[in-house]
Amino acid sequence: MTWISVVSISLLAILATGVHSDEQKPRKRPIMLDRSGGFNVAGRVIQNPQNPNMTLSCDHGYMEYFIPWRPRKTSLVMWHSSSTQTWQNRFDGGEGFKDMFLRRDYPVYLWDAPRLGRANWACEPTFYVPDYRDQGNFVAWNFGPSYPNFWPDSQFPASNKTAWQQTTSARYVEYDTVANIYLQANAAAIAADSYKIGDSVVYLTNSAAGLRAQLAVTLSNTTNTKAIVAYESFGYVFPDNLNITAGAPFGPMVIPLEQFKKLARLPAIQYIFSDHRSENFTFLAQARLSAKIINMYGGNAKVFLLGKDAGLKGSTHIAFADMDNAKVANLLDEFLEENELDAYADSRHGG
Ligand SMILES: *[C@@H]1O[C@H](CO)[C@@H](O)[C@H](O)[C@H]1NC(C)=O
Ligand SMILES: *[C@@H]1O[C@H](CO)[C@@H](O)[C@H](O)[C@H]1NC(C)=O
Ligand SMILES: *[C@@H]1O[C@H](CO)[C@@H](O)[C@H](O)[C@H]1NC(C)=O
Ligand SMILES: *[C@@H]1O[C@H](CO)[C@@H](O)[C@H](O)[C@H]1NC(C)=O
Ligand SMILES: *[C@@H]1O[C@H](CO)[C@@H](O)[C@H](O)[C@H]1NC(C)=O
Repeated sequence: MTWISVVSISLLAILATGVHSDEQKPRKRPIMLDRSGGFNVAGRVIQNPQNPNMTLSCDHGYMEYFIPWRPRKTSLVMWHSSSTQTWQNRFDGGEGFKDMFLRRDYPVYLWDAPRLGRANWACEPTFYVPDYRDQGNFVAWNFGPSYPNFWPDSQFPASNKTAWQQTTSARYVEYDTVANIYLQANAAAIAADSYKIGDSVVYLTNSAAGLRAQLAVTLSNTTNTKAIVAYESFGYVFPDNLNITAGAPFGPMVIPLEQFKKLARLPAIQYIFSDHRSENFTFLAQARLSAKIINMYGGNAKVFLLGKDAGLKGSTHIAFADMDNAKVANLLDEFLEENELDAYADSRHGG
């Protein structure tokens, strides 16, 4: 046997194995990063009243970043209400939006707003009082009508006890006060205005992070933020000329009209809701009102129903971590494309 034929036989064997495993499980596009890392954003330095030489650097946010080898122009800032984990994996540990959108060449940012997660060094005393919240999480996240009864078509992996334990354990303290909402939104606005996360930013938000992202847009002084895609936003900002009564901690937040109009200047806002929400669900009704007012001032805000508009069944409050999150990701592709937010940074590379 010649050297060449030994090589070709081994090569054939390798190819055959490759083809075999490809049939079982199609290979995904690799994730190729140019770099990754993190940095702090905003915050204050306070002095010890007893000794001004002693300071504390606090109330900053933390941004972790992943930049593809060949990035698109638009950065996706994944903004959780109370756990970055929801953006990292599907509920059963499968692929989450972070990796899905890195494979699609979007720069991905995981944001811990001030006092949350890896930005938990606060300038003021904070407190955590243990509460019995697991069963409340189940209902708030719309896994089912009551604990432990899943909707029959739930996209949560209902029989996987570990998945439930992982999900309910992944929460952080959220600090739902109006002052903290401003603190968190302002830090995000400073991040967007800094150009450190690019000049084309889309906030992907879940739950109460939707309210914070809306407020961030109204506090920002640049046009770097291009869109908000809010998965079941709990809370909305409204202008002060419509006699809307403010509430807390999930809004409505009432702000000066001139500031509110910044939302109408965003190229696009999408409020997404799952099929197990009725039209009279408070936050869906508020989303419709918010979109109407934003559009009245010349904006482009839409409510998107995963059930009626896309035929998805059993979506949870955290649809991007659901078992069918690949379909939810395809809908985001469509949104980014429709709003011309899918271009590559280096146009020579094409799309
Ligand atoms: C603060 O630092 C200054 C300059 O180093 C020093 O003169 C002063 O004694 C310090 N004050 C205290 C309270 O340690
Ligand atoms: C159940 O969920 C856990 C945690 O998300 C995961 O590690 C595990 O692989 C899942 N099991 C199955 C059978 O999918
Ligand atoms: C935007 O500009 C105003 C006026 O100068 C300033 O008070 C505010 O802090 C700025 N916002 C951000 C997010 O930097
Ligand atoms: C504004 O709302 C309040 C309370 O909802 C109501 O009592 C009042 O009549 C309203 N004013 C106007 C001008 O609509
Ligand atoms: C909401 O609408 C559903 C029907 O779509 C109805 O069964 C339910 O009672 C309504 N709830 C409220 C609070 O109005």
